[in-house]
Amino acid sequence: MTTVTLHHQVEHFFSQGSAGYDAEILQIVPLYPQLFEELLESCTFPTSSLDKEAPLNILELGCGTGNLSLLLSQVYPNAQLTVVDASAEMVALAEAKISQPQRVTPVVSDFRMLSIAPNSVDLVISSLALHHLPDEDKPGFYQQMLGWLKPGGLFRCADQAILNPRTEGLDYQLQRWETKALANGADPAVLAHWKTHLLTQDHYATVPEHLSWLSDAGFTDIDCYWRVAFWAVFGGAKGPY
Ligand SMILES: C[S@@+](CC[C@H](N)C(=O)[O-])C[C@H]1O[C@@H](n2cnc3c(N)ncnc32)[C@H](O)[C@@H]1O
Repeated sequence: MTTVTLHHQVEHFFSQGSAGYDAEILQIVPLYPQLFEELLESCTFPTSSLDKEAPLNILELGCGTGNLSLLLSQVYPNAQLTVVDASAEMVALAEAKISQPQRVTPVVSDFRMLSIAPNSVDLVISSLALHHLPDEDKPGFYQQMLGWLKPGGLFRCADQAILNPRTEGLDYQLQRWETKALANGADPAVLAHWKTHLLTQDHYATVPEHLSWLSDAGFTDIDCYWRVAFWAVFGGAKGPY
């Protein structure tokens, strides 16, 4: 199966599910609010890097319905946000949620196909989206992303990650995910729907793999800032600050 076919399947899944996304994601990702809190917190370290009041240029990959986009627009009140998603339905919902057209540039695109000026972005950020890239595409995409960042710019990502050893790590994380989602009151039919997506369209890596790909791409100050069960926040910087 080619990357392009996979991409269309992912786009179709999220376009079809865009209207119900906000209600469903809160059921199936029990730590969704905390994930955002930790992701935004990770952008405050190191303290010398991003000035919240500055006219930052922020690029959000896989914005979905705009839940993180909205928080970014509030935390960084003078920033320009470019929010990207392969699904036009998702981008339209994100745009409506922020409702500040002068500050937001919505883009419907595969984020691998973006044309971004080199050294132009202060923060590349993403939640629950990069696991849609096949693992073989991730190292090259991290290199592409480093080129977009200004010196001193940050990359921060919240995503699902498996444990080492990989095969057992995937089974273990999936079991934990189902247990936590059901305990969180997830509708079993909704969970089953997402599990099919997860098993056929998601590509989970381990945190050490992400950190090593970031290092190979040339990022500095690479770290995992937070991790609970299936969810992790990690990233790096384009040195020097
Ligand atoms: C699970 S949703 C996460 C949405 C949002 N970031 C959030 O945290 O709620 C993943 C989103 O990434 C988008 N996506 C996945 N792969 C993509 C790609 N290669 N290019 C652009 N968008 C992509 C999907 O269309 C979907 O809206």
